[in-house]
Amino acid sequence: MCGIVGYIGSKTDIKNALETLKKLEYRGYDSAGVAFVKRGKIQCFKRVGQINNLIETIGKKSAKICICHTRWATHGKATEENAHPIMSYNNNFSVVHNGIIENYKYLKAKIGAEKFSTSTDTEVICNLLEYLKGDTISRVIECESLLEGSYASLIIDKCNKYIYAIKNKSPMYIACGKKGTTIASDISCLNAEYFYNLPDHTVAKINKKEITFYSNGNIIDLPLCKNIHNFESNDLGQYKTYMQKEIAETNKTISNIVELYSSSNNYINENIFKGIKNVILTGCGTAYHACCLGANWIQKNLKIPASAYIASELRYSEPILDDSSLMVLVSQSGETADTLAAGELAKDKGCRIITITNVGYSTLANLADVCLPLCAGAEIAVASTKAYAAMLAVLYLLSHATSGFIKSLQNLKEICQKFNSDNISKDIVKKVINSKRVFFIGRLDDGVTASEGALKLKEIAYIDACGYFAGELKHGTIALIENDVVVIAIITNPNLKQKTLNAVEEVVSRGAEVIIITNDKSITGYTTIFIDTAIDEELNSLLSVYPLQKLACEVSLSLGFNPDKPRNLAKSVTVE
Ligand code: F6R
Repeated sequence: MCGIVGYIGSKTDIKNALETLKKLEYRGYDSAGVAFVKRGKIQCFKRVGQINNLIETIGKKSAKICICHTRWATHGKATEENAHPIMSYNNNFSVVHNGIIENYKYLKAKIGAEKFSTSTDTEVICNLLEYLKGDTISRVIECESLLEGSYASLIIDKCNKYIYAIKNKSPMYIACGKKGTTIASDISCLNAEYFYNLPDHTVAKINKKEITFYSNGNIIDLPLCKNIHNFESNDLGQYKTYMQKEIAETNKTISNIVELYSSSNNYINENIFKGIKNVILTGCGTAYHACCLGANWIQKNLKIPASAYIASELRYSEPILDDSSLMVLVSQSGETADTLAAGELAKDKGCRIITITNVGYSTLANLADVCLPLCAGAEIAVASTKAYAAMLAVLYLLSHATSGFIKSLQNLKEICQKFNSDNISKDIVKKVINSKRVFFIGRLDDGVTASEGALKLKEIAYIDACGYFAGELKHGTIALIENDVVVIAIITNPNLKQKTLNAVEEVVSRGAEVIIITNDKSITGYTTIFIDTAIDEELNSLLSVYPLQKLACEVSLSLGFNPDKPRNLAKSVTVE
């Protein structure tokens, strides 16, 4: 969701900075723009749609300093006018911004609403700079102190000497190279061994040779961080889409996890749960589904009360949180705003915090007492697949922190070769495409997998889908079962197999088409995708979600969609 790249150095093609910005395309955006200074004037180019439209417009233009942005519309429609960079009312400043300025209405009124020409909250930053007095750095420092909300922003003025960066609750990284300095909102696009990670409420004044950091108006030192962001090649290789590639990388991800967590007990050890009386797991979307399974396993294996919360609800629902609570924040990106807000609440209440994330330098990783890496490598497709499997794997290990940890690692290793590599049959894809709507059902852990399967189908194939615990069908939803409805039943729990099959029979007799995902070879007479069985029943959730991810991807492709970039969705949701 929104991406920022700034470059300052020798005169270079602006296209190079835009090529770096392209590495952030996966986050989702609907317009792109760039600003730089030419003959004492700030020039700003913006285009709705793909960055390539902008690259075409820019051609061979060059500059020593430029700031670029991809915008995912929040305040104001996806138009050129609302795209960033945004110019101040006297054209002395240009700003790109990620996040939301929560007090923008108040500041706008203070500056004078007639001076504003876009519908964005961002415009308040550049107009504030224009409105304040003093040299640029004092204006930037004062401006930063007046903003409320989340922001990672780059600012340029007509002097063409510096880029100024401000930051709160939204990431911003700075990497100095031999030829110049690159600033970005996402570390994955910085090709540098060392970088600065800008803390909240810090201002940076950056020129080609040096960077000065300010906190509360005073100059401060910041440590250089080593870039251990060792993402593998982002090339598609033999695959048509990232989603297909990333699903296929699940087994590699699981073996990375086994390797890392066997090599050191710094990550998971019995001390994690010492003195803990309750565990709250929280995340959004797919990460929330991982939390649901994690809560089941922690409660069952560690006998500590554990519950999963949707992160956007958590801070309004007054959960029991104190210094004997453990909050587990689960997030692929480590930047999801709602999960961050939940983490901040937990911090205020004195809870112990674990973050399970794929991005070791993310805001959520920094917030935690312990960060557990997902080891999934770059996940480019918007829909989370291998990272979901990784979340389950790490949560499974966590649920064995106090006993049986070595065995749990062995169990995990054992499933690496068990992911069903068969293609989803054309017949099954056709059934789903021709359906009016799709219900996914299952019991206990399989019920959670049902919700995750439905989410995948909705988000990348735009098919009306819903996940239910099978026992709930009779309490309302069965009214929707008729011809042209597909029901996908997940059955991996032998104790509840017959219960789910009863629900299957009920929907068959009302005209539904049924597809079963199971490891039980004795289930016959239905269209079935058979999966392997894990030694530990809990790990069947990793094996059963795998064909559901592939199914959603195949359906999306067959309908002519691009599963990597579903409409209206962003990879990293950095606003509430
Ligand atoms: C669905 C999906 C989203 C994310 C959610 C949280 O496939 O990817 O539901 O799981 O937006 O994102 P992270 O895990 O980055 O916090």
